[in-house]
Amino acid sequence: MKVLIINGPNLNFLGIREPEIYGRQTYADLLAYINDYCAGQDIEAQFFQSNHEGAIIDAIQDAYGKMDGMIINPGAYSHTSIAILDALKAVGLPTVEVHLSDIAGREPFRRHSYISQACLSTISGLHFKGYVEALRLLQDTVNK
Ligand code: DQA
Repeated sequence: MKVLIINGPNLNFLGIREPEIYGRQTYADLLAYINDYCAGQDIEAQFFQSNHEGAIIDAIQDAYGKMDGMIINPGAYSHTSIAILDALKAVGLPTVEVHLSDIAGREPFRRHSYISQACLSTISGLHFKGYVEALRLLQDTVNK
């Protein structure tokens, strides 16, 4: 299974940004954690991180016809981006939305995600484990 794992704005600052919310582990630690899971499975993970909405949309479109599924943590674009929602709907790949923090228990403006509408599921508040849960869900869906 080929999976594109997209991380949006400020996720490259993991370990530095608000460690009381996002923890002290870095973006490189996140990739190592995901790769560790993939190594024992039949999963080829490709990673993409950008702070730019258009670049994320380009990456989603680029996955069309190449990937079996996607995982996306859209960062703050979750709460604002109809364009990312439309891109996910356009390519139609099975996609799981992940948030490190529990967005339902934070500020009211984080409670709504536009992106959820185009996703199989939204996993929130499990920190790094959320990405592995998302991979498991994609495995169940794609290998069915
Ligand atoms: C986040 C939650 C978003 O509200 C926030 O803007 C982020 C990270 C998370 O992983 O918990 O940048 O997506």
